[in-house]
Amino acid sequence: MAIRPVLRMGNPLLLQCAEEVTEFNTPELLGLIKDMRDTMQAEDGAGLAAPQIGVSLRLVIFGVDQNPRYPEAPAVPETVLINPVITALEDTMADGWEGCLSLPGLRGLVPRYQHIRYSGFDALGQPIEIEASDFHARVVQHECDHLDGILYPRRIKDLRQFAYNEELLQL
Ligand code: NI
Repeated sequence: MAIRPVLRMGNPLLLQCAEEVTEFNTPELLGLIKDMRDTMQAEDGAGLAAPQIGVSLRLVIFGVDQNPRYPEAPAVPETVLINPVITALEDTMADGWEGCLSLPGLRGLVPRYQHIRYSGFDALGQPIEIEASDFHARVVQHECDHLDGILYPRRIKDLRQFAYNEELLQL
């Protein structure tokens, strides 16, 4: 078990476009995924992208059981998604509050597509193709943005809706 430090906003690695994974089911890849799982669990995250622990590869993990950070959120299946491609299935976007382990203590209101299809590969190289909506779709879009060097503040339309959790809790 290895919990790796999560890079925070300002680290240039978080702004890079990550490279495609070319070899599946290798000890290196499986070890990386294990470290990402350990790190996500230790930090109580809903998802984590490899660049957040300093590995510039197109690999994300996500999954929500019942997460204390998102008590209202429906469960999202535990997923390893490699070389992902997202297609919006309709133009409608919805605003929702997002946090990120790379911006601890902060939260912002971010528009995301409500209904998407995502495809890619699992750790063994098996193809994945799933339709998702609402919170599940939001998590996937947030994590995949990391692979293109995009942190959620860039998606916020009204920066007045970008705040410290502790202040919002007092409202
Ligand atoms: Ni994030």
